Amino acid sequence: MQKNTITLTNNNTGETYEYNILEATRGPSVVDIRTFFKDTGMFTFDPGYTSTASCESKITFIDGGKGELRYRSFPIEDLATEHTYLETCFLLLNSRLPTKEELTDFDLEIRHRAFLHEGLRHLFNAFPDNAHPMATLSASVTALATFYNDHLDMEHEEEYLEMAHRIISKIPTIAAFAYRHSIGTPFIQPDIDLGFTENFLTMMRAYPGGKMHLSPNGHDKIKEVEIRAMDTIFTLHADHEQNASTTVVRNVASTGAHPYVAISSGISALWGRAHGGANESVIAQLEYIGSVENVEAFIKRAKDPNDNFRLMGFGHRVYKNFDPRAKILKGLQDELKAELNLDSELMAIASKIEEIALNDEYFVSRKLYPNIDFYSGVILTALQIPKSMFTPIFVIGRTVGWITQWIEFKQDKTSKIARPRQLYTGD
Ligand code: ACO
Repeated sequence: MQKNTITLTNNNTGETYEYNILEATRGPSVVDIRTFFKDTGMFTFDPGYTSTASCESKITFIDGGKGELRYRSFPIEDLATEHTYLETCFLLLNSRLPTKEELTDFDLEIRHRAFLHEGLRHLFNAFPDNAHPMATLSASVTALATFYNDHLDMEHEEEYLEMAHRIISKIPTIAAFAYRHSIGTPFIQPDIDLGFTENFLTMMRAYPGGKMHLSPNGHDKIKEVEIRAMDTIFTLHADHEQNASTTVVRNVASTGAHPYVAISSGISALWGRAHGGANESVIAQLEYIGSVENVEAFIKRAKDPNDNFRLMGFGHRVYKNFDPRAKILKGLQDELKAELNLDSELMAIASKIEEIALNDEYFVSRKLYPNIDFYSGVILTALQIPKSMFTPIFVIGRTVGWITQWIEFKQDKTSKIARPRQLYTGD
């Protein structure tokens, strides 16, 4: 079969170079330029990797033009509405959905592993009061590497799956402890009788004591609808192919560092407000805007090239039509409006921004649509999650994606240490 190729001509020397085009099973093909430097003595230049595929992957597929997202070929819409987050985790790690028995075993294993080593628990005391939970989370996950100094044999599936299950299971506990520490309240231990998502909500909200209470009168229970909403949020964040934090995880993996250190690096990368930190910034911005009457003035600022104000929760490097995760969350938000008492001034401001921006030439021509972070904050607020925990919740959902990408990287026999080059323009 004839290979598709691309030919480049150096217009100075007249030399030509031919490169193979590698076909993708879905989405754009890529030009294989691995020998480009050897052939030409030049590097390619692509800051921000806008045209660069950094790896081959079978995990997640995104068609930004169509607004399509699939994990292991399953559409995100199906996973978010017909499956739980734990099923999604199993799917990402094993490339197929679990049977009923497999799901029961997986669920039990995740419950068992949720407890933290006492030594790690004491580490929290070393952090200052009011430490941001993202900083505590990243440091604690690095510290986890001191307790599980695994020398993993990638030929043995059970070894790396155990390492993956452990981090997926412990992340909600670490996140809840980080939050509890930041507000100075006693930690709530995981409850073996509770499923993944209910357990997390309980560790966030409960009052400690002989019997767990969610309110001083002991009457409140975490509602089914709240568990479902949080579970959906975790599923929507589970993976997103080669975004900034996942690229960081793969780059750290390429040096041979411990997998939990790679995850911790991913957490740090996610914190930035151009990435996962946007969800916290969205609510902070809505509060700053303050009222529906002020929205027009802020939209004007967002459009002003001389003002660095950006509308948080708008725009995406890949989605240029709509973010399918945002669409699902908007649907969920509308559905939960009555049940979770979502009608707030913040929601009114958010709706006004959405209404203006979706019809404004500036946003339309630049294909700037609301992304997942635009909607998640309003729902998380209704679930009694404070702003500082929005990005840690993203971390909880994304951990499975990072660790799956880590495993794929380690199993790829062609993988190399990440070492980009530069265009030197100094003296
Ligand atoms: N508000 C106003 N203008 C914007 C916005 C925004 N939120 N986002 C992009 N633009 C404008 C830029 O000013 C630029 O305009 P120009 O062509 O006139 O110079 C144009 O749109 C393209 O923007 P880039 O920054 O080049 O787009 P890029 O793909 O590099 O950035 C990003 C994507 C970082 C998400 C950006 O849209 C942004 O900063 N959004 C706000 C932060 C945010 O919501 N991040 C969450 C992303 S989703 C996630 O990580 C989970």
